[in-house]
Amino acid sequence: MNYDYLTNVRPENMERITTPALADAFIEEQVAALRAQIGSGKVLLALSGGVDSSVVAALLIKAVGDQLTCVHVNHGLLRKGEPEQVIEVFRNQMKANLVYVDAVDRFLDKLAGVADPEEKRHIIGAEFIRVFEEEAKKLEGISFLGQGTIYPDILESKVGVKAHHNVGGLPEGLNFELVEPVKLLYKDEVRVVGKALGLPDSMVYRQPFPGPGLGVRCVGAITRDRLEAVRESDAILREEFAKHGLDEKVWQYFTVVPDFKTTGIKDGKRTYDWPVVIRAINTVDAVTAQPAELNFAFVQKLVARITAEVPHVNRVLWDVTPKPSATIEWE
Ligand code: XMP
Repeated sequence: MNYDYLTNVRPENMERITTPALADAFIEEQVAALRAQIGSGKVLLALSGGVDSSVVAALLIKAVGDQLTCVHVNHGLLRKGEPEQVIEVFRNQMKANLVYVDAVDRFLDKLAGVADPEEKRHIIGAEFIRVFEEEAKKLEGISFLGQGTIYPDILESKVGVKAHHNVGGLPEGLNFELVEPVKLLYKDEVRVVGKALGLPDSMVYRQPFPGPGLGVRCVGAITRDRLEAVRESDAILREEFAKHGLDEKVWQYFTVVPDFKTTGIKDGKRTYDWPVVIRAINTVDAVTAQPAELNFAFVQKLVARITAEVPHVNRVLWDVTPKPSATIEWE
């Protein structure tokens, strides 16, 4: 393999990493390259628990061990169990230096009463950088910043599809040299490498998850109780999809809780509670998407569990709209 890490261009003859042996060769080569780049320096990495940053963390741990400090910011918009998994895998199993920042109140306070989707996204992004900068300033002698940039991020930034946060966007006031060991890899290759590095399947094969997290699925102004309804219904959905082998067949699936209530009935009494919307879609590139054809008995099982187990929910809707006209996410 012959990587050109200076020009951000994947060489045409670079073999696609599809097997454990190819992944091992990549890992060996990257570990050597990371050691050469970093020397005895210190590296900082924002670790979300998503596949890209997790693979970069695992590579850096292998290459430079405790010269790496990972910062995991819990903004309160992560899925059920995710912050715990980051701590378990990286602090307990891989023995990484992991700074866990509980910023839940900080984010939710800033978001209180904000209904506009773009403003919500902006607040979440800006606050994330602020929290990360604060943590970086507490640490001494850091000269490198690890990033989970992957090749599609570079390609999409180049053609103007999206200004990806990983490309060219260093937090202001921080003068770090970038360390981007997977920047020439496609997503499927990152997963093969992650598997070879020993990361758990639930991390390696994780479905796409928006940066603003559950915040864009708690439609309108976020409240803590409605956010919990999103998180709990999402956890039930993921559990049932996995139990029925659908996690390998459906590209993305999640729940949304809109900010209106309707009438229902529970234990013979009238309720006035939220609906949960199920969204399950298939796509190749997320540019267009089709609803997944779920078995109706399976959908009814989801309805039964969600209405029985999630507080303040009395109704379940199934969104079968393709993209377009709808987007995949509701905001
Ligand atoms: P839409 O809703 O635009 O989503 O059809 C397309 C894909 O992108 C994901 N998505 C995001 N990913 N930051 C991200 O990193 C975001 O703000 C964001 N919004 C949507 C979405 O989950 C879907 O896979």
